[in-house]
Amino acid sequence: MNSLVDQISRLRVHFIKELQEAVSSKDIENLKLKYLGKKGSIQALMLELKNCSSEERPHFGKLINDLKEEFVSHCENSLARLKNQEMAIQFEKEWIDPTLPGRSPFLGREHPINQMLHRIVDILIGMGFSVQLGPDVDSDYYNFEGLNFAPDHPARDMQDTFYFGENLLLRTHTSNVQVHAMENFTPPLRIVAPGRAFRNEDISARSHVFFHQIEGFYIDKHVTFGDLLSTMEEFLSKLLGGRAEVRFRPSYFPFVEPGMEVDVRCTACKGSGCRICKHTGWLEILGTGMIHPNVLKRGNIDPEIYSGYAWGMGIERLAMLQFDIPDIRLFTENDMRFLSQFP
Ligand code: DAH
Repeated sequence: MNSLVDQISRLRVHFIKELQEAVSSKDIENLKLKYLGKKGSIQALMLELKNCSSEERPHFGKLINDLKEEFVSHCENSLARLKNQEMAIQFEKEWIDPTLPGRSPFLGREHPINQMLHRIVDILIGMGFSVQLGPDVDSDYYNFEGLNFAPDHPARDMQDTFYFGENLLLRTHTSNVQVHAMENFTPPLRIVAPGRAFRNEDISARSHVFFHQIEGFYIDKHVTFGDLLSTMEEFLSKLLGGRAEVRFRPSYFPFVEPGMEVDVRCTACKGSGCRICKHTGWLEILGTGMIHPNVLKRGNIDPEIYSGYAWGMGIERLAMLQFDIPDIRLFTENDMRFLSQFP
């Protein structure tokens, strides 16, 4: 039975060659199947045993079994080595560093108008005012009549005001909050009212159909014109950083008497005159005055006992100055390139 010995040694040579060529655990699995499987080469040799004489059979049987064990141990060693290699490569590829900081989600920023608004409201809260909001859609009474506008006042014209039918309108100013507050509360009132206002104007770099205002008012016994002046000076100094030079000019608003406009020295040119201040050296920033007795009376407040002052200011104007923004339309275009510039 020399041929069986030959077969055994040839099989070993083939096996060793293929083992050396194997580069992956998959190759070894295939090798196991080919040599050690139920229909594999070792099994085929076993079948040959039946051709041996009964004396030879145990000897050859042992040779084949030894060969089988040799193959098994080679396969297991190689399998372990290759699996380790493959795992190391996979770990390298899929390695994650749990100590890295996470990716932060995109956070929005406060709109520059709201930044300005909140700064102003914060200052006024610090001065003892509290916030009240009023409706954007309101009646003629709260927007005009309660504020002593004559029935034929030009502001009531459709050219200036957006109406919904006869009586409802988009408020043209935040002064409507004065009328609501006098109806709902009894003095002393120290209220600041931020919000939107609407006017039927041509949209341009300087004006828009909707914008923001802050209204403030104080109603109590013995509120004087001196209180108004000092409050405005204090407020504007806090707002503009203590360097504000302020001037008061007489002006007319139906709901105050006397009425004034307040200007500050142009923050861009420091008063020497530039495009921003239209070469006057001053910027108009708010309207103010002592609340008209007719307005108090309509609000059921006795003007013989109580007096008050009020003021109103546009926010876009201030934000444009503060952030050096040339065009009011930028505020509402929602362009991220613009909005992301205000940290
Ligand atoms: N409501 C006025 C406007 O929109 C601004 C204003 C002026 C408000 C004088 C006031 C004030 O409270 O006293 O133009």
